[in-house]
Amino acid sequence: MADKTADCILNQKSFSKMKNYLKPHEWQIVEEGFNPHYNQISESIFAIGNGRMGQRANFEEEYSGETLRGSYVAGVYYPDKTRVGWWKNGYPEYFAKVLNAPNWIGIHIMIESQKLDLAKCKVEDFKRVLDMKSGLLSRSFAATFPDGKKVKIDSKRFCSMAHGEIGAIRYSITPLNFTSKAAFSIYIDADVVNKDSNYDEKFWEEVSKEASEGQAIVTAQTKKTHFHVTTGMRYFIETDGKKAVTDRINIEQREKFAGNVIQLELKEGKETVVYKYAAVLSSENHDKKSLVADCKKVLDEAVAKGFEKLYEEHKAIWEHKWEECDITIEGDAAAQQGIRFNIFHLTQTYTGEDERLNIGPKGFTGEKYGGSTYWDTEAYCLPFYLGTAEQKVARNLLVYRYKHLQRAIENAQKLGFTDGAALYPMVTMNGEECHNEWEITFEEIHRNGAIAFAIYDYIRYTGDERYLTEYGLEVLIGISRFWSQRVNWSSSRNKYVMLGVTGPNEYENNVNNNWYTNTFATWTLDYTQKAVDFVKKDNSSRYKEIVSKVKFDEAKELARWKEIVEKMYYPEDPVRGVFLQQDGFLDKELMTVSELRKEDRPLNQKWSWDRILRSCFIKQADVLQGLYFFEERFDQETLRKNFDFYEPMTVHESSLSPCVHVILASKLGYKQKAYEMYLRTARLDLDDYNNDTEDGLHITSMAGTWMSVIKGFGGMRVADGKLHFNPFIPEQWKSYSFRLEFRGRVIKVKVSKDGVETKLESGDPMDIVLKDQTITLKKI
Ligand code: BGC
Repeated sequence: MADKTADCILNQKSFSKMKNYLKPHEWQIVEEGFNPHYNQISESIFAIGNGRMGQRANFEEEYSGETLRGSYVAGVYYPDKTRVGWWKNGYPEYFAKVLNAPNWIGIHIMIESQKLDLAKCKVEDFKRVLDMKSGLLSRSFAATFPDGKKVKIDSKRFCSMAHGEIGAIRYSITPLNFTSKAAFSIYIDADVVNKDSNYDEKFWEEVSKEASEGQAIVTAQTKKTHFHVTTGMRYFIETDGKKAVTDRINIEQREKFAGNVIQLELKEGKETVVYKYAAVLSSENHDKKSLVADCKKVLDEAVAKGFEKLYEEHKAIWEHKWEECDITIEGDAAAQQGIRFNIFHLTQTYTGEDERLNIGPKGFTGEKYGGSTYWDTEAYCLPFYLGTAEQKVARNLLVYRYKHLQRAIENAQKLGFTDGAALYPMVTMNGEECHNEWEITFEEIHRNGAIAFAIYDYIRYTGDERYLTEYGLEVLIGISRFWSQRVNWSSSRNKYVMLGVTGPNEYENNVNNNWYTNTFATWTLDYTQKAVDFVKKDNSSRYKEIVSKVKFDEAKELARWKEIVEKMYYPEDPVRGVFLQQDGFLDKELMTVSELRKEDRPLNQKWSWDRILRSCFIKQADVLQGLYFFEERFDQETLRKNFDFYEPMTVHESSLSPCVHVILASKLGYKQKAYEMYLRTARLDLDDYNNDTEDGLHITSMAGTWMSVIKGFGGMRVADGKLHFNPFIPEQWKSYSFRLEFRGRVIKVKVSKDGVETKLESGDPMDIVLKDQTITLKKI
C-alpha cells in the first residue's frame, strides 16, 4: 500500500500536465492546499523581487521538507572554478554563479520546544497568493503541532519597488486552542549555500556582525570577487494591535548569523504580529566602509515609514508599471493570467535603471544559468523594453555590450582570433566567458549575430541612428572581423563555409554550415558596411577616431567582407524548398514529435545525450529563428515550407522556442497553432511544461511571451520608421489590448471580434499602417 502511494506521487511528479494546481485568476496566482511535492515549483512561481534583489517564495519559519532557499542580490556573483573532466585550451576558468545571498526573511517559531515546521505539523487551509497588481506575496494556513496545539498563520511580504534595498514582512500568529509561552527567533543568516556549487564550497565569509535588542546586521563578503553585502533587520512585535509584552529577549550570534530570540506569551484567540524590515545593501552601490552605517539609515527609513506606508509606495510603483506594460485579454482567464505573470516577473527582475545589470535567464528565482547574461537579452528581451519602457532602457542594454567589447576581443584572442575580432561570450557576468560547456561556450557563436542584430533592431525601432556613431560601429566591426576569420574557403564547394558550430538548436553540436549562423554572419558583414557609410557621413571626425582606435583598414576589410557576403554557402533542400539546419540534417531519420512516446518527453530528461544529438528532434527554433529575424527577405511560401518542415520536429524544450513559433504561425495564418504555442510560452512555468520550474522561472522567455501577443497576434512590425499592425484575435478570446511606446508617443491598440481600435495616448500625431492602410493617429 505504502509503495503504491509512492508510485502515485512519482507519477504525478513526472507527468507535468498534472501540475496545473494553480487557480486561474486575472491578477493573482493562487495555490490552495499544501502539496510538499510542488513546494519548490511554487517557490519559483511565487518569487518576488525589485530589480535590486529577489527572493524565492521560501517560508519565513523553519522548513525541513524539500526546499531551495534563495535570496539574490543583483550583480553579486561568484566565479566558481570550472569543473571538467578533460581540460582543453581555451576553456573558461570559471562558471559564474548567482549567489544565494544572506537570508533576510527568517522568523522561526517555537512553542514549548516544538518548532513550527510545515513538514512536521498537520497543515490545513493553506493558501499562497501572489498579487501581481501590487507585488505582494501572502500565505496563510492553520498548523497543528504533534501535541494538538493549533495556530493560524498569516504572512505577507514584498521587496519594495520604491526602495530597492528594502524588504518588509508582516507575519502573524494566532493560537486557536491554547495559551502558552513561545519563542520567536528573528534573524539574518549569511551561512547559506549554493546548491549548484562546483566543489560544495561555501561562497560567503563573515566581515562583521552586530546584534542588539530589535536589530541585527551581518556583513558578508564573497570569496574571490570580494563583493560585500550588508543585510540588516529590525522588527516590532504587536499583540492585538499594541506593542507586545515580551518576557525576555536574547541576542543570538554565531558565525555569519545574528538575531534575537524573543520569549513571550501567546494568548488563545489573540493575534501576535511580527513586522520585520530588512535592508540589503551591496558594495556595488555603496562604499564598503560605509555599508553598515548606510544599512542603518535604510533601516531607519523603513521603520519610520512602517509596513503600510512602504507597501503603499511599492503598490504605487506597480500601478505605474502596469499602466506602462499591461496586456489585457478578455474571455480567457488562463491566457490573461499567463501574460500578466510573464510581465510581472520580467518587470521585477530588470528595471533598466542600472546599465551594469542585465537579465539572467532565471532572474532572481533560482540558481540555474548562474544569473548571467545570454544572447536571450538581445534576441528576446530587447523588444519588450523597446516597446514598454523609455528608450534609455533598451539603449542601456546595448551599451552594456559596448562596455564588454574589449573583453570580447580578448575572448576571441584566447581562441586564436586576431586583429580586433570580437567574440562575445555565450554566458557572462562581466564580459568574460564564464560557462564551462564546450559546445555551448565555444560553438554557439551565433550569439555574436544577435548582439549585432540588436543594434539594428534598436535603431529600426527608435530611429536613433546616432547610436552607430557613438557606440554601435565599433561593436559591429569587432563582430564582423570575427565572422570574417571564422569562415573558410571550401575549394570543393567554391564557397565560404563555417564549420564546427552549434546553432540555436542545442540538440545538435559541432555541425557544419548551420544555416542560421551562416545567414547571420553575412547579414552582419553587410550591415557593418552600411554602418561604416552612415558614420562616415554622420560624423567624419568620429569615424577617423574609430578607424584609428580599432585600426580599421577600410578598403581591405570591406572588400573581404563583400566577397564573403557574395560567396557564402547556405545549405538548402531544393526538393522540399527548405533551408537546411546544417549540412547533415537530411541524413537523419526524419520523424515528427507526434511519433514520440509520451514517456520519452522531455527528451533532455529521458534520452541519452548521444541519442538526442543523432535524432532529428529540435530543441528550439533554429532555421525558423533565422526566418523570424529576417522575415522580410523571404516570401510567404518559403516561410510556410520551412515552418511546415521544422515545427513538427520541434520539441520546444527550450523556453525560448514557442514564442518564435507563435509569431511565425500568426504570420502564416496558422491561428490554432499560434494559440497553442502562446499558451505554452505564457503558461510554461505556471503549468511546468518542461518539468523544470523548480529550478527557477524562465525569465528571458517571458519577454518572448510579450512578443507573442504584440508581434504574433498583433502582427506588429516596424518598417520605414512606422509601426505596422496586422492583427487577428484567437477564437478563444473576446478582445485583447496592449500599449506601446514608440518614438516619444504612446499608443494603445485594442483588437476585438468587431475590429481594431487604435488610440494615441500621448505625443505628436503619427502615422501607423493598419492592415496595409496608413492612418494618422491624433490625440483627442
Ligand atoms: C537555450 C539557450 C538559452 C539558454 C538560457 C538554453 O536552454 O537553448 O538558447 O540561451 O537556455 O536561456
